[in-house]
Amino acid sequence: MKIAIPENFIIGAASSAWQTEGWHGKKDGQDSFLDSWYKEETFVWHNGYGPAVATNFMEKYQDDVDLMKEIHLTHYRTSINWARFFTDYENLVVDEEYAQHISDMVDALLAAGVEPMLCLEHYELPSYLMEKYDGWSSKKVVELYAEYARIAFERYGDRVKHWFTFNEPIVVQTRCYLDAVRWPHEQNTKKWMLWNYHKVLATAKAVAIYHAGNYGGRIGCVLNPEMVYPRSNSAEDQKAAEMYDLFFNRVYFDPMVNGVYPQKLIELCQEHEIYFDPTPEELAIIKENTVDFLGVNQYYPKRVRAPRYQWNPEMPFHPEMYYEVFDLPGKKMNNSRGWEIYPQIMYDMAMYLKNNYHNIPWLVTENGMGRENEENYQNEQGMVEDDYRIDFISQHLRYLLKAVADGANCEGYMLWAFTDCVSPMNAFKNRYGLVRIELNEERTRSLKKSAYWYRSLIDDRILEAEEEKLYR
Ligand code: BG6
Repeated sequence: MKIAIPENFIIGAASSAWQTEGWHGKKDGQDSFLDSWYKEETFVWHNGYGPAVATNFMEKYQDDVDLMKEIHLTHYRTSINWARFFTDYENLVVDEEYAQHISDMVDALLAAGVEPMLCLEHYELPSYLMEKYDGWSSKKVVELYAEYARIAFERYGDRVKHWFTFNEPIVVQTRCYLDAVRWPHEQNTKKWMLWNYHKVLATAKAVAIYHAGNYGGRIGCVLNPEMVYPRSNSAEDQKAAEMYDLFFNRVYFDPMVNGVYPQKLIELCQEHEIYFDPTPEELAIIKENTVDFLGVNQYYPKRVRAPRYQWNPEMPFHPEMYYEVFDLPGKKMNNSRGWEIYPQIMYDMAMYLKNNYHNIPWLVTENGMGRENEENYQNEQGMVEDDYRIDFISQHLRYLLKAVADGANCEGYMLWAFTDCVSPMNAFKNRYGLVRIELNEERTRSLKKSAYWYRSLIDDRILEAEEEKLYR
């Protein structure tokens, strides 16, 4: 089947600062939360690979930009590393060397015909703010973040027209404080909710500052809503799905897009003593400063059922009181990553946004396939023949384009990731890139088969996708 890709539909790629940069030029006291975790628990990171070298983007960004140019990429998202942007976070003393790096990177992208999209925080919370103020538990951090945003807009707003306040703002505190599976292993559901709230407030403040500056671009947030499917049509399973949606999706969508929290969520937070006690002034800021557009990261569906067992009253509250994860027999899997593959999430999420959030403009800011042992797919010339990735992208794009044809306000698709990169635990184990990174000292780059295929997609604007595809 051949599907035409609309002329203005963005086909881009993404990454983040901490997953690519490496510590070249980093100064004492500039650790981010991720850097501290890596130092504290290096054993957790696959084969010890982490942010220390990453892809050495700090020194090699021009090589990556050249490769973007070679495959005719038009849009690239990355983040500014907040932890490296200042030498003094409280007095807002900018690290001019690092700030110049961001400026040079933006210029290099523009010179190559690649539109930059910048995110202000892709988990790069400075460790100093974590230690001194307990991170996003504090309103002081909200204030310091807003000032950081102001400075970033002043420095790059003339050239960067797409801004994001956070990447997946729910993730860190969910892993750390709700599920307590990551360092610093503190279970605290009230803190989880407070961090969620402060990131919503910080977004509204950054939106206000951006709009007041008349930079001529737009600002949004990259969220990672999970398209949630109930096991069955029973009222109990449906309720479980609604509760999951409320606690993990609507907790950001509603205040950021509609300017208000769902009443039901407020009541549940009060009932379970995890309410975040907003002031009327803060709620007014949230109401008046909703986002211009959204980034949506989509990888896998979430399947739930009604809980079969009574909640242990000795346990701290967890939204899981209202749902149980459902394991669908026979589901397609990306076994390298342990994630279900269900391309229909693209269509369903698009319709969810169209129907519930007044069809706000948005784009897929991440989707992709992390795959282990890609060296086994290298041909004689050393090129990775990643047909599985081409299939994966094709199937997801197929559903997305169908949604666009059905009126979804989706402006594009950004692949995660442009190059292979590090991430917690997964490190360089599962490769996501269009560009392979060798783990030698030079971090040598080479285009995979998918990169050439992506170029033809960008040039010809025709997607060839079979109706059904079996994933191996
Ligand atoms: C997204 C994050 O959730 O998923 C990225 O924004 C991350 O930072 C990506 O790398 C893929 O997840 P992982 O854990 O396989 O790297």
